[in-house]
Amino acid sequence: MTASAGPVSGSAASGGGAQIRAELLRVDNLVVEYPGKGFRAKPFRALTAINISIGQGETLGLVGESGSGKTTLGRAVLGLAPVTGGKIIFEGNDISRASRKQRRVLSRDLQVVFQDPYTSLNPALEIGDILAEPLGVQGKSPAEAKKRVRELLDQVGLPSDAIHRLPREFSGGQRQRVAIARALALSPKLIVCDEPVSALDLSTQARVLDLFLQIQKDTGVSYLFVSHDLDVVRHISHRVAVMYQGEIVEQGPADFVTSTPGHPYTQRLLLASPVPDPDRQEKRRADRHRLLEVQRMQNEQAGVLA
Ligand SMILES: Nc1ncnc2c1ncn2[C@@H]1O[C@H](COP(=O)(O)OP(=O)(O)OP(=O)(O)O)[C@@H](O)[C@H]1O
Ligand SMILES: [Mg+2]
Repeated sequence: MTASAGPVSGSAASGGGAQIRAELLRVDNLVVEYPGKGFRAKPFRALTAINISIGQGETLGLVGESGSGKTTLGRAVLGLAPVTGGKIIFEGNDISRASRKQRRVLSRDLQVVFQDPYTSLNPALEIGDILAEPLGVQGKSPAEAKKRVRELLDQVGLPSDAIHRLPREFSGGQRQRVAIARALALSPKLIVCDEPVSALDLSTQARVLDLFLQIQKDTGVSYLFVSHDLDVVRHISHRVAVMYQGEIVEQGPADFVTSTPGHPYTQRLLLASPVPDPDRQEKRRADRHRLLEVQRMQNEQAGVLA
């Protein structure tokens, strides 16, 4: 992932040190357990004592291997995963056990963009109707909705004639722009982005990432940005949290965590991510083998199977 592609140069964290931001979301000691399958089956603990916070206009990147609990954390924030313990505080209010009615109100402020633009949009609806739907639910008149839909298409870089087209008439990158426009419709304060560029090819990824950055600059929205790709997360995030087996094992400023990781898992993740220069790639591969060997010996000494 090159940081320079597209109109927004640099990454989220570039251009100065850490900013003081008002807190938007705080997750305190969150535990999520999925019910076990079958009679008397033990519940499965997907998240253990998670602590994160996201400031206004800030992006927290969430990185970790498959099954580490990234989606579960995003879903818990959206009220879609069973909270067994701890709290989720949004704008000072505990929303971890919000009622359906409270959730409906919250959906104005909390939105989501999923990985797969092919399944997340209703294939039978024209783009204009897809974007007008949340506006209608929140009581906007058809004329207001129409005006807002045009603004949204412009904001995500789609032509205004997209209104009368169906999702299948767009490329993956364009569909993801529609999904982003839908998430933006009600001017949310936080968007949970769950692997939103993972299904796109590299150059489309770069353009869609730049769109996320531009939108944040224009609107001040915050992102919880999930990815398994350290390069993507580095580009988009102010801070990064690393998940491993349902826990946050490391978090801090994006530049620092992604260049000088402290946890063995993050070190492996960093050295596994490809770099465009063959010589640096060769060195990275050698470093990775050395690190894996050191970690294997440490595990052996600690009596743990590597
Ligand atoms: N609805 C569910 N019921 C039971 N277990 C679940 C459920 N959803 C997720 N899990 C389990 O919780 C753990 C975390 O899953 P999650 O989808 O959050 O991981 P992830 O980090 O998003 O992975 P990926 O990178 O593959 O998307 C996994 O072991 C998964 O099998
Ligand atoms: Mg996931």
